[in-house]
Amino acid sequence: MAPQLRIFVPPHPLIRHWLGIARDRQTPTPLFRTAIAELGRWLAYEAVREWLPTIPAAVQTPLAETPAEFVDFSQPLAIVPILRAGLGLVESVQQVLPTARIFHVGLKRDEVSLEPCCYLNHLPEQLEVNSRVLVLDPMLATGGSLLYTLDLLRDRGVSAEQVRVLSIVAAPPALQKLSQAYPALTIYSAIIDEQLNDKGFIVPGLGDAGDRLFGTP
Ligand code: PRP
Repeated sequence: MAPQLRIFVPPHPLIRHWLGIARDRQTPTPLFRTAIAELGRWLAYEAVREWLPTIPAAVQTPLAETPAEFVDFSQPLAIVPILRAGLGLVESVQQVLPTARIFHVGLKRDEVSLEPCCYLNHLPEQLEVNSRVLVLDPMLATGGSLLYTLDLLRDRGVSAEQVRVLSIVAAPPALQKLSQAYPALTIYSAIIDEQLNDKGFIVPGLGDAGDRLFGTP
């Protein structure tokens, strides 16, 4: 059967709570940063379920021997934040996956064409074979920025099956574009919003995540 893009919206009260804080236009920058970081933590927790490889083991408690299971952190793991807004998720996701390598990609959407322009690419020429890759971008609007990043990863030997995307707000145009180009992709998002306005902003969305994270106009 042909793969179909999968998008999960975890039904979690903490995700709904921090999404409400992030959406509120009155939330000041420091609290907005906290909200984005918390969303990153809980979405990462959900996204790595059934995804991280584990090794069966046995441990000795103070009383007896018992079976145990450990995450196999020797397997290659990568985090790819899309700057700037993806930076807001990095620290908390790194706390969940402390051994992951972090490869930054900097993209800026052109305000008129809405096409992404790449100003930073710290991806290596090839990622380690069978790497698991978490791509971080809080906003999937037209989907252009994520698509650009997935193309960079594909050119470096990473297939969509190896990738999980963490977003906070995803819009239908992005999901449509991504499902055509990368049907085997898996996305975790706090919400799917209804539409884009004529400037390409997600409505209701949460505004410009990059500007709100860094206090820029
Ligand atoms: C915003 C947002 C996403 C991208 C989504 O970034 O943070 O990365 O646009 O739009 P798309 O799905 O239509 O590509 P922006 O270009 O404003 O840069 P910033 O993160 O530095 O603010």
